[in-house]
Amino acid sequence: MDAAKPRVGIVMGSASDKDKMRGCAEVLDELGIPYEVRVISAHRSPDLAVEYATTAQERGIEVIVAGAGWAAHLAGFMAAHTIVPVIGVPIDSSALQGLDSLLSTVQMPPGIPVATVSIGSGGARNAGYLAGEILGLKYPEIVEKLKKARARFREKIAKEEIAW
Ligand code: RP5
Repeated sequence: MDAAKPRVGIVMGSASDKDKMRGCAEVLDELGIPYEVRVISAHRSPDLAVEYATTAQERGIEVIVAGAGWAAHLAGFMAAHTIVPVIGVPIDSSALQGLDSLLSTVQMPPGIPVATVSIGSGGARNAGYLAGEILGLKYPEIVEKLKKARARFREKIAKEEIAW
């Protein structure tokens, strides 16, 4: 894989989502997957959202991770404009603590799927791992890194001790 060519597009509805979305970038770094990051809003800059999604594939983007809060239409709006797989991260930025974003992101009508992960920073990390699993179908080196990550999770759990 050419390290200079982004394969994953991380997009978020506002710069205020950046701390919640950071884990996705960290996981992609861990897996050696090049990515680009953009702030694009389905509501405040719908023209940019259309442009990003419609040009993603020709620019070499193979997975889009879209995080947004409130009435979170970014992932679905992206998915409507591309056949690149879209992973949605519901961000917990409103008074409803992400339940609004979760339902807005996950409840896509048949035909236009968004692979929705859990709310907030944990979901953003899982979006990174899921993007890795999708790309692993094409790039075997990512599969090796995913297996190593799983082995680390197992080792950590196996060492845990509870002292009451
Ligand atoms: C959503 O509204 C964004 O994804 C963000 O989570 C939320 C608040 O955005 P700001 O008002 O902080 O820009 O569209």
